[in-house]
Amino acid sequence: MKAVSLFSGAGGMDLGFINAGCKILAAYDNMQPMVDTYNKNIGGASRLDLSTCDFSTIAEKLGFGDSLDLLIGGPPCQGFTSAGTRFWDDPRNSLVRNYADALRHLCPRWFVMENVEGILTTAKGVYLYEAVKRMVELGYSVFIRKIYMQEYGVPQRRKRVIIVGNREGKPYHFPLPTTPASGQIYRDSAVTLRNAIEDLQDVEDVELDQVPQWETGIKLKRMEMLKPGQTMKDLPEALQHESFKRRAHRRVMDGTPSAKRGGAPSGLKRLVYDEPCLTITSAAPSEFVHPVRNRTLTVRECARIQTFPDDYKFHGTKRERILQIGNAVPPRFACILAESILKSDQEEPSLEPGLVYYDLSKASARSSSLARTERMLEQLKNTQLQLDI
Ligand SMILES: C[S@@+](CC[C@H](N)C(=O)[O-])C[C@H]1O[C@@H](n2cnc3c(N)ncnc32)[C@H](O)[C@@H]1O
Repeated sequence: MKAVSLFSGAGGMDLGFINAGCKILAAYDNMQPMVDTYNKNIGGASRLDLSTCDFSTIAEKLGFGDSLDLLIGGPPCQGFTSAGTRFWDDPRNSLVRNYADALRHLCPRWFVMENVEGILTTAKGVYLYEAVKRMVELGYSVFIRKIYMQEYGVPQRRKRVIIVGNREGKPYHFPLPTTPASGQIYRDSAVTLRNAIEDLQDVEDVELDQVPQWETGIKLKRMEMLKPGQTMKDLPEALQHESFKRRAHRRVMDGTPSAKRGGAPSGLKRLVYDEPCLTITSAAPSEFVHPVRNRTLTVRECARIQTFPDDYKFHGTKRERILQIGNAVPPRFACILAESILKSDQEEPSLEPGLVYYDLSKASARSSSLARTERMLEQLKNTQLQLDI
């Protein structure tokens, strides 16, 4: 399949699609370090602000007419909206508007959009509702699912929302989990942190940024006391960080200290070897303590947990590199996702444009905000929309 990639970042998603046999014709991101990383490892990325670009010109330049198979990458959900018709006029929603423009002008047969879990409830569900409604108006059959990455061989608890669309009426099936996981310890499973990084614990290699960051002073004292699974709140008060104490003791409306509600940032956490890692974000190298060493994770360890191969080089400052890694779709999951699209592409068309399927949580209980979004999607599913194609 020939694909175009938007918001391509370091290329985690793209690497998975390439490994599954797709060819990326062009990739775009507006940050230079991301583009540098992409070009050093994959090639073909350009720096472009997708909130102001003209997709008809891009479509003309790329010159594939209506033969583009796939568009990958989603607009970062910035959490802005205003309801109803004003939604599309509001400049703060420009990234999703531009994504819709991309669909209209590039006309891919398939699209795959990845986003954070927050997209499900942002602006009371209006953001997701409006985006999906537009996809349907543009002629797509749409499928939405919250994915738990640890169920697909990724050694990390990471939840993301995947939206897939097809404009030929082909039914799509999300990939079945390869590693059933239920939140317990997976001692013999391939998705543990131990299996991902144990061999790196004493490696010193400046080039690969694997030099362990050994700690000193109070930070070392804190780490020495933390047992696997413990966080800043388990330390004696004298060792807790000032800002943590302030936040932990702040009381919220119902009188429960926010740390007890799981709300306050825990500052430092010692990871557990025989479980999937916690979600890698750009804060990981400052907050996640190695399971058996008194140091935080290195950039390369974070890359391993995100399933990047060891020869994948990240460009930019340490901050920029960890941002790229934390933002990425794990290539291992992306490859499984790509394979599911390739498989569904063999199916016979049988669907009308519309919201066909959504599964927003595998938990049986629903928060009231998620339940509200589901009601909106159910309504959308049952509505016959005027097509705009
Ligand atoms: C979640 S990351 C993408 C990660 C990527 N899919 C991967 O797997 O590595 C979102 C990307 O969108 C880019 N971005 C944000 N606003 C943008 C804009 N206006 N134009 C182009 N790219 C933008 C960011 O620089 C970031 O790299």
